[in-house]
Amino acid sequence: MPSETRIASGEVWLVGAGPGDPELLTLKAIRLIEAADVVFYDALVSADILALVPSRVRRVSVGKRSGRHSRKQEDINEDLLAAAQAGLRVVRLKGGDPSIFGRSAEEAAHLRAHGIVVQVVPGITAASAAAASAGVSLTLRGEARRLQFITAHARAGEPLDLDWRALADPRSTLAIYMGRAAAPEIAQNLLRAGLAAETPALIVENASMACERRFSTRLDLLALAVQTAVGDGPTLLLIGSAVGDRSIPRSVKIRVQAEP
Ligand SMILES: C[S@@+](CC[C@H](N)C(=O)[O-])C[C@H]1O[C@@H](n2cnc3c(N)ncnc32)[C@H](O)[C@@H]1O
Repeated sequence: MPSETRIASGEVWLVGAGPGDPELLTLKAIRLIEAADVVFYDALVSADILALVPSRVRRVSVGKRSGRHSRKQEDINEDLLAAAQAGLRVVRLKGGDPSIFGRSAEEAAHLRAHGIVVQVVPGITAASAAAASAGVSLTLRGEARRLQFITAHARAGEPLDLDWRALADPRSTLAIYMGRAAAPEIAQNLLRAGLAAETPALIVENASMACERRFSTRLDLLALAVQTAVGDGPTLLLIGSAVGDRSIPRSVKIRVQAEP
């Protein structure tokens, strides 16, 4: 391992595992996984990536997929702390990028409050992987000047607390994480807030993995597409003119002339 990527005993590294394809791991992530004593990983970390963890390294699953059994965040914080205080070299492997909807700030704050050195390694986030697979860009000069990362995860029984007027910006791309269950509510609110029904929407399940599936649709059909086509893999929703199929003309202009 090069000198700049040493993991000392008692340190915790929050490492982005990317969207699932092991070839999208950073070199730094691989080196840290190989040098760790213990790797704590989320359910979103793919089996192909876990296969890279050497057999001498202890693996601890901490779950974390909505609706499925997982350790409470407070317990994960305590587990990481205990491992670091025991002098282990700890890697906390998180799907995608740790800084995007990954609760890494809570883990880092808890550890640092106890004097533990915490380092972060970025990873490729699901939105980047989904756009790359579909061959689209998340921004588009002159057309999509803003990219908004949104979590559509709400507490059970509660509506989504989002600023729909700000989100319904035709010059913006929305990258919606954890949006599968809330797809009908998302579409309805964006339409109500004025986003056009024909706004392109892209649904990408298991982005970057062999089992990836993509569906191109439009905003008013988003809920139906999600309901009928998507399985139970992690799913990202991209909405905005930038993610439309560039080979299809966006709209046909019809000129209506008044009768003479
Ligand atoms: C808790 S968030 C974590 C996001 C992660 N930190 C990232 O940067 O991609 C989990 C959500 O990310 C999205 N996601 C993660 N990996 C994905 C993948 N390979 N394909 C599609 N969506 C993915 C899904 O919306 C999933 O519900």
